[in-house]
Amino acid sequence: MSWPVERTTDSPSATKELAGRLARLCRAGDVVLLVGDLGAGKTVFAQGFAAALGVPGPVTSPTFALVRHYRCGAGSPVGNLIHADVYRTGSLDEIADLALAELVEEDSVALVEWGDMAVPALGESALEVTLAVPDPLGSSERRTFSMVGRGCWAERAGEVAAVLEPVSGRGAP
Ligand SMILES: Nc1ncnc2c1ncn2[C@@H]1O[C@H](COP(=O)(O)OP(=O)(O)OP(=O)(O)O)[C@@H](O)[C@H]1O
Ligand SMILES: [Mg+2]
Repeated sequence: MSWPVERTTDSPSATKELAGRLARLCRAGDVVLLVGDLGAGKTVFAQGFAAALGVPGPVTSPTFALVRHYRCGAGSPVGNLIHADVYRTGSLDEIADLALAELVEEDSVALVEWGDMAVPALGESALEVTLAVPDPLGSSERRTFSMVGRGCWAERAGEVAAVLEPVSGRGAP
């Protein structure tokens, strides 16, 4: 099994389920980069991801805070979720502050919206999830997801594909 792993969803709740399945695979130090245009569904993904880690309370786009830290619930594979939105940051230094070693020390996973901007700082070892809206002018709620893993994720394509097995593949009816 190799990258990319591709899936589609047809509703926000299906996107949350896909994200939750990925969240349960995560280990301390993992970085997930979300790439996609305004309204693609990055924050919806983050909500499903956080819910699967037992984060209590609402997860909103951290656009104005840049980074939010959440304590995960009992039974979560990691202790903390760091949710970042780097859309408004001009500085790669801020992104680099989310250093991988610290993530492991803090028993955290990082989920980064507008992750393409974070690739120079964090992309060497990350799961990059690209969200797209195949029919932006229509009323469809379809979203496509293309996932590529690098570094510590490079060998995990099979694991990701298996956990997403119940989620439909690209081009499904
Ligand atoms: N299959 C789907 N998956 C996710 N969201 C969907 C889907 N279909 C429709 N939507 C809608 O698309 C919107 C996605 O908004 P969201 O805030 O998650 O986007 P975003 O990528 O975080 O945008 P921004 O860059 O502005 O933060 C929501 O209104 C959601 O209800
Ligand atoms: Mg958002």
